[in-house]
Amino acid sequence: MRNNTRKAILVTGGLGFIGSNFIQYFLKKYEQYHVINLDKVTYAAQEFDSEIEASPTYTFIKGSIENKELVEYIFKEYDIKGVIHFAAESHVDNSINDPEIFIKTNVMGTFNLLNNAYKYWMDGVNIVKTGYETSRFHHISTDEVYGSLSDIGAFSEESKYAPNSPYSASKASSDLLVRSYFKTYGLNVVTSNCSNNYGPRQNKEKLIPTVIHSALTGKEIPVYGDGRNIRDWLHVEDHTSAIDLIFHQGVTGETYNIGSDNEWSNIQLVQELCTILDEKAADILENLHLDSFHHLICFVHDRPGHDWRYAIDSTKIREELGWNSEISFKEGLDQTVDWYLEKILKRHPNEVQKNG
Ligand SMILES: NC(=O)c1ccc[n+]([C@@H]2O[C@H](COP(=O)([O-])OP(=O)(O)OC[C@H]3O[C@@H](n4cnc5c(N)ncnc54)[C@H](O)[C@@H]3O)[C@@H](O)[C@H]2O)c1
Repeated sequence: MRNNTRKAILVTGGLGFIGSNFIQYFLKKYEQYHVINLDKVTYAAQEFDSEIEASPTYTFIKGSIENKELVEYIFKEYDIKGVIHFAAESHVDNSINDPEIFIKTNVMGTFNLLNNAYKYWMDGVNIVKTGYETSRFHHISTDEVYGSLSDIGAFSEESKYAPNSPYSASKASSDLLVRSYFKTYGLNVVTSNCSNNYGPRQNKEKLIPTVIHSALTGKEIPVYGDGRNIRDWLHVEDHTSAIDLIFHQGVTGETYNIGSDNEWSNIQLVQELCTILDEKAADILENLHLDSFHHLICFVHDRPGHDWRYAIDSTKIREELGWNSEISFKEGLDQTVDWYLEKILKRHPNEVQKNG
């Protein structure tokens, strides 16, 4: 075991979209933690800049949360006193095409982490080892576990679980495993279920990066079905501030829903992005011989089992923990488009120009 005065926190999936934004925020805010990032580096992983890599309070370990020996070694070697668990296979379409990896990572991986936390922090049912009294397992989950809403209502923490895709079913299963480790063993757990996130560092398979990428490379912008499905969008920095609050102040065994009453139909959002891009990427538009990116929008065959609407009632985290989202959608989208524009133009300039 290392002799380090900083409290070691295991963050899983810290190279992914939300995990990497969270680590950047957490390292900047807290000097008293040592963040150990365990990530398998799947296709969804994003590179960190050298400043993070070089930070004395950050350690990266490449590996899977499913690997029993590795996870056991990490708990002992770094004397892990907290877990914030982001690692997952996260794309619904992939879960429809190849569900098995979702069960392995999201269900078996979560089980392996929980079981190692239990063995390392506790001596048996409800017996916490000395020195681990505040050690907590924070499980990051999604509003998709609740299934789909009609045009009215919102998911609260009391809503019935009704997952519809292999992805949401695997996340629901992992949520229930977390609950069981609290109910059965008394492990200190909290779970948060968040709405759709947007912001920098998201893999290009997801809606907002897909729209920006397709537009800048002159490809059709695909919209599922008639585009009227509704999602509640939250900036990833607002999600990270909520996680920080829940990890430090949430009540053991509780779940917290996170959302920002910001419902958009997919087609409205795609149109809004095209309008922003028309202004910000006028030169690319000209190269493509188009007068608006709106002309690239095309409707494609709907996703099987496509949930109609998600909306989150986040009264609990607002009233009990005093959380609020800070970033307006207008400001957040603007900043997000700027980030992808810079990234795409810097890293893939040929891809953009060759379509001109
Ligand atoms: N993106 C959203 O809008 C959203 C909303 C609510 C909740 N969530 C949840 O937040 C978490 C993070 O989502 P994201 O969008 O950042 O996902 P992501 O797909 O961008 O990143 C997932 C990360 O996990 C890593 N990973 C995958 N399998 C692994 C394994 N077996 N072992 C270790 N690392 C592994 C990947 O390499 C990647 O870095 C997930 O649990 C997801 O269910 C996401």
